[in-house]
Parts: sequence; structure tokens; C-alpha cells
Amino acid sequence: MHQSNPVTALDALVIGAGFSGLYQLHCLRDRAGLSVKVLEAGGDLGGTWYWNRYPGARCDSESHSYCYFFSKALYQEWEWSERYPGPPEILRYLHHVAERFDLKRDIRFDTRVVAAHYDEDENCWQVRTEAGDRYRATYLVSAVGCLSSANVPDIPGLESFAGRWYHTGEWPHEGVDFRGKRVGQVGTGSTGIQSAPVIAREAAHLTVFQRTAQYSVPARNAPLDESFRRRVREDYDAIRDAVRSTPNGHPFRIAKRSVFDVDAKERHAIYESAWEKGGLQFRASFRDLVLDRTANDTAAEFIKQKIRAIVRDPRTAAALADIDHPYAAKRPPIDTDYFETFNRDNVALVDLRAEPIERITPAGIRTRAREYPLDIIVFATGFDAMTGPLLRMDIRGRGGRTLAEAWREGPNTYLGLQVPGFPNLFTVTGPGSPSVLTNMPVAIEQHVEWITDCISWMRANGVDRCEAAPEAAERWGAHVNEAANATLLPLATHSWYLGANVPGKPRVFMPYAGGLARYRAHCDDVAAKGYEGFVMCSGKPSAS
Ligand SMILES: Cc1cc2nc3c(=O)[nH]c(=O)nc-3n(C[C@H](O)[C@H](O)[C@H](O)COP(=O)(O)OP(=O)(O)OC[C@H]3O[C@@H](n4cnc5c(N)ncnc54)[C@H](O)[C@@H]3O)c2cc1C
Ligand SMILES: NC(=O)c1ccc[n+]([C@@H]2O[C@H](COP(=O)([O-])OP(=O)(O)OC[C@H]3O[C@@H](n4cnc5c(N)ncnc54)[C@H](OP(=O)(O)O)[C@@H]3O)[C@@H](O)[C@H]2O)c1
Repeated sequence: MHQSNPVTALDALVIGAGFSGLYQLHCLRDRAGLSVKVLEAGGDLGGTWYWNRYPGARCDSESHSYCYFFSKALYQEWEWSERYPGPPEILRYLHHVAERFDLKRDIRFDTRVVAAHYDEDENCWQVRTEAGDRYRATYLVSAVGCLSSANVPDIPGLESFAGRWYHTGEWPHEGVDFRGKRVGQVGTGSTGIQSAPVIAREAAHLTVFQRTAQYSVPARNAPLDESFRRRVREDYDAIRDAVRSTPNGHPFRIAKRSVFDVDAKERHAIYESAWEKGGLQFRASFRDLVLDRTANDTAAEFIKQKIRAIVRDPRTAAALADIDHPYAAKRPPIDTDYFETFNRDNVALVDLRAEPIERITPAGIRTRAREYPLDIIVFATGFDAMTGPLLRMDIRGRGGRTLAEAWREGPNTYLGLQVPGFPNLFTVTGPGSPSVLTNMPVAIEQHVEWITDCISWMRANGVDRCEAAPEAAERWGAHVNEAANATLLPLATHSWYLGANVPGKPRVFMPYAGGLARYRAHCDDVAAKGYEGFVMCSGKPSAS
């Protein structure tokens, strides 16, 4: 660590100023009474919504659930304008929260944390920023997000490209002018499925490079009318109960019926009605869609037929519908006119399974079959998810052991909240927690409140250090695997849930698939039993 700059001493330091960091600051400062600062790499608050301003960016959680529930007054005074808000509206909401709870005065922007070392003698975390500023804090809370480390593929020749290229997760705030340009978009996940229709409307030509075809259901975004908004205000308690009791933190219930409880005609009518309604609720049409492959096949085939019916060119339709994994085994996108976009004269699909990318040239992208001349390349290629933002920092725990070393074979956590060997480091929505399998603000609130309660309990009981016990983490890791294997999710072998999108990343199913409500009950139980599975100590750490 640099020794030159003065050190700011704090009770707690929070890294990241998205949904997680903002609420963590409020809880630790205003409820637990700690001295707290938040360090944020971006120039302003918002996290995901600060960075992802690509064309077509939007929520797939419905607005009345994609928000905080901790304050009824806050919930009731905010009015959403659309079913699925985009970055400007979500950022307005988060700024409103920050002003209402006076958060900005304790956030340092344009401040990237590059190192955090646990100091055993002092029982504190020594933290360094890119600019060389130093902090020390008893508690370190990572609120760095699951999807904040952009994954730009290492394609040979990128540096030689004569045009401009962008990653959707680091989109320029001034926007990109596509008019008159030949654009190549690499990637067809949730992001690419949102951006392609909007880019196609502006660009001279759009080529979409698809490696893995994806299911998508129409979002059916629309303005919200006053009667819906009034109902949401009045139903706060019921909506809060719903998001806290459903497996994914969404405000809708998963149907109790199974796929084969109904005959083919009725099933088709159920899918048709869910398709018309739009959104992630499609997945909730039957209880066994992500549990049983034969059941899942019926939904998969329904969507594939829709794709073939929408897309006029049979070859393009076949490539788009050539989906090799169960429906919803990857996070299922929702879209506005994605498949329809391929009926435009200025849009072409390249199937990378038939002709893989060989390199990027000064003129464009060359596949095994030919070169595609381009002025702009858009990488909608996702993120080094969940572990990426943590491992990008030089985090060292007891004995100077790096997190990278501790996680060489994949993330090892207890409840996704702590890592053995890293005392007093808490990870909001860390790997091993429900996180990305949920409507995330609900999971974030649960983690932030649990961490706040844990730290308050430590202080009330004269405990200096809290650290996950290795046996508890091992048992939890086995349970995370077991929960994933009880679903169809691991069958999408190219999924970022498994780390498969980043070459060399260990293949470990990272989020907890056992459901948020069940997870919450388990975390509450652990706390009620005096933080069972965590080693709570006073005094200096023993050498180990
Ligand atoms: C395009 C997109 C759409 C999404 N839509 C939905 C949705 O509809 N529903 C849903 O539930 N979830 C959605 N998500 C997931 C989304 O990430 C979460 O909903 C939520 O915003 C996460 O909040 P967070 O505060 O935990 O993390 P983030 O919002 O990712 O914030 C983390 C912050 O930490 C900062 N940071 C990271 N490393 C450092 C460092 N070393 N030093 C300093 N600062 C650092 C980052 O700059 C970032 O601002 C979406 C994600 C993406 C990418
Ligand atoms: N609210 C929303 O609607 C919304 C919008 C955007 C994002 N999100 C969240 O963010 C997550 C990430 O979404 P994302 O679309 O950004 O990322 P993603 O789901 O990981 O999709 C990335 C796409 O890029 C492709 N790709 C990656 N590397 C490539 C390479 N080297 N060559 C060719 N293609 C490559 C992937 O193909 P493979 O599949 O073959 O790897 C995939 O099609 C989502 O799952 C969701 O949780 C939500």
C-alpha cells in the first residue's frame, strides 16, 4: 500500500453507488449510526443505469416492483410513467432517493477502489483508490454489482479497426450517432435483443452477429394510467408482501398448475394469453417450466413457432429459432420488435455457429465465410458477471491471501454474504445468493438489512470480527449446487450464470436457485441462532 497520502478512518466503507450502495449507506449511517463513505468509480450514482445507456435499454422488472420497499412514504410518493422504465427514469428515481435521504454528501464519485487489504494487527480494512487516496474501515461492504464488469471479447485485430467500437455496458453518455452508418452488433442476449431494433431504425445497415440464439417474449411496454398508479399506491402492503414471498422477488405469483395438468389446446391458450400480456410473467404460466424438460419443451416450441411466424426469410427464421437450451435456463429476455427487426431491408443476421468470427480487420468483421464492412461495432457481449467486479480489485484477507487465490476454483462464500478468511468483508448480492435470479432491488434490500443487523449485533455484543466458517461455506456451496441441479438452469452450458461466457473462468453455477423467500428465511434463522456458521470473535485474530 502507498504510504504517502493521509488516511481517512471510518467505521464502514461501501464500494459502489447503485441500488445496493445507496441503501447500504442509508442503513449503516442513519440507522446504525456509523461513520460511512461510499466510493464510486462512475461520475454519478445509479450503477447499472449510469453505465448502460445503450439504445433501447430498459428494465425487465415491472416499474412498481423495481424500486425500494423499505419506506412506504418513498414508495407511495414516486410515480412511474411506464411499465418498464429506461435509464433516465430509473436515474431520476435514484437521485430522488439520494436527495430524500441526503446521501450524496457521503459519496465520492470518480473514485475507483483498486485494493483492499485486511490489516490483522488493527482489525481493519486498508483501502486504496486508483488516485492513491487511502481509507481504513472496520467494515468493508462490497456493493459493486453483479453486472458491472464489461466483457469485451478478445477478438484478434480489434485494435486495428478503423471505425469506432462501443460496449453497451460502458455506453457514452452523449450517445452514438448511427445515421448513415453500417453497424455490426455482436451479441444477442437481453441487451442485444433490446438494442438491435433501435439501432436498426437509425443506421443505414445493421448486421447482427449471433453466437447463441435466444428465446424472447414481447415486453408490451406501455405508459401507466392513473388508475394503475393509484392501485399501486394503495396496494403497497400487498405488493411488498408479494415480492418478499415469491421465489424471484417479482410481484406476480407462479401458477400452481403443471404443464401436463391441462390438455394441449388449453396449454396453447395459456401461452397465447401470456404472450399477449408480455413480460417475464410468461415464465410463471406453469409451476414446472424450469423444473421439467418435457414441460419446458412445450414453452420452447411455442416461442420457436412464434419466431418462425414473425420472421419472413426462412433461413433467418431458422437461425433465430435454432435455440439449443431450455426456455428460461438463461435469463429470458423480453423485447420490443426484436424478431420483427429481421424483416427490415437494412438488417441481416450472421449465424456465428455456421461462420465463426476469425478476426476484426480495419474494415470490419471477418468470419470464416467473408468480411462484413462496418463503420461501428457494438459489443452487446455482456459481463464478467458476479465475481468479475470483485476480482478486478486486489482484495487480500487474513495472511495476505488474495481473493483470486481463494476463488481459483470458483467463488466460495457463505450465503453469498461472506468469504472465509476475509473478516468483516460483506458482499451485497455476492455469488451464492439469489441475486441475479430475482427482481434485484428486493434481494438487495434483504442483503443490506441483514448486513446492517449483523454489524449492529456485533457492536452491541462487543464482537470485533465476523467471518464465515470454512465448513459453513463448504456446506452452503454444496447446497447452491444442489439447488441449481434441481432446476434446468445448468443445462444452458453457455450461460453466464456458470461463468461460461468468459474464457478461462471456472465453471461454477454462481447464483442461488433455491428461491429468495426460502433464502430470506434461512438467513433470518442463521441470525436468530446468533449468526450460526459465522465465527464471531473479540480481540486480535489468531494466526492461522
Ligand atoms: C442493462 C441491464 C438491465 C438490467 N435490468 C434489470 C431488471 O430489469 N431487473 C432487475 O432486477 N435487474 C436488472 N439488472 C441487474 C441490475 O444490475 C440490478 O437490478 C441493480 O441495478 C444492481 O444494483 P447494484 O447497486 O447491486 O449494482 P450496480 O448497479 O452494478 O452498481 C455497482 C456500482 O459499483 C461500482 N463499482 C464497481 N467496482 C468498483 C470499484 N472497484 N470501485 C468503485 N466503484 C466500483 C460501479 O461503477 C457501479 O456503479 C439489469 C442489469 C443490466 C446490465
Ligand atoms: N432488463 C433487461 O431487460 C436487461 C437488459 C440487459 C441486460 N440485463 C441483465 O444483464 C444480463 C446480461 O445481459 P447481456 O445481454 O448484456 O449479456 P449476455 O446475456 O451475456 O449476452 C451476451 C451476448 O454476447 C454473445 N457473446 C459474448 N461473447 C461473444 C464472442 N466472443 N463472440 C460472439 N458473441 C459473443 C453471447 O453469446 P453466447 O450466449 O454464445 O455466450 C450473448 O449472445 C442479462 O442476462 C440480464 O440479467 C437485463
